[in-house]
Amino acid sequence: MKKKITIAIDGFAACGKSTLAKDLAKALGYTFIDTGAMYRAVAFYCLEHQLISEDGILNTEQIDAALPLISIELSSDQKVWLNQKDVTQEIRTPKVAGIVSKIASIKAVRIKLVEQQQAMGSQGGIVMDGRDIASVVFPKAELKLFVRASDEVRTQRRLAELQAKGESMSEADVLANLKSRDLQDSTREESPLIQVPEAIVLDTSSHTRESQLEWALEIANQLLEEKE
Ligand code: DC
Repeated sequence: MKKKITIAIDGFAACGKSTLAKDLAKALGYTFIDTGAMYRAVAFYCLEHQLISEDGILNTEQIDAALPLISIELSSDQKVWLNQKDVTQEIRTPKVAGIVSKIASIKAVRIKLVEQQQAMGSQGGIVMDGRDIASVVFPKAELKLFVRASDEVRTQRRLAELQAKGESMSEADVLANLKSRDLQDSTREESPLIQVPEAIVLDTSSHTRESQLEWALEIANQLLEEKE
């Protein structure tokens, strides 16, 4: 039987990480974990329970106290469950996108989610995407990818996603949200988004979904052959 490896994929918002991770996991027969969805679920819980004010001020003490009451599960059909409720759609709204980076900068939130992510991937055979996967969650991952895409491509992708769900937002607002999240994610104190030196970089701007998968699969298969 082929050895199963751990694949860590990091990158900025809307650069195509989750699509690549999902396709790669499917091709290899591995489990796919979108860790951004877990931070979004916590953000959604905080909005629902008024732990964040209208102007975006966090009640960090109350959020810390609420963490034991928050249970997040990701099912194999890519659904996201918050305390047994399906919140797959709800976590993708502009409102959640507007506050999730703040929630993801809270130390106690990161400790809880990283612990859960490490348990999910303890047996290998996983493709996990996020911001701190190669640096914090799985620093020993056999394959580390860092995904990039141009601002134009990222904006158009997010706009298309929103339009498909009947949500409208201007191009300028989408880009502003992406930029502000990138800045918060890469400058926060707690495990900021970094490109680890050993990561292999992929710019998805000029790739199709198929060609980026082909590229990543070739690297993964080569690594798996070397390990046999
Ligand atoms: O991948 P995404 O855009 O759905 O992620 C939502 C937010 O969660 C993003 O702004 C940063 C944060 N995040 C994080 O801090 N660490 C991760 N491993 C994944 C996401």
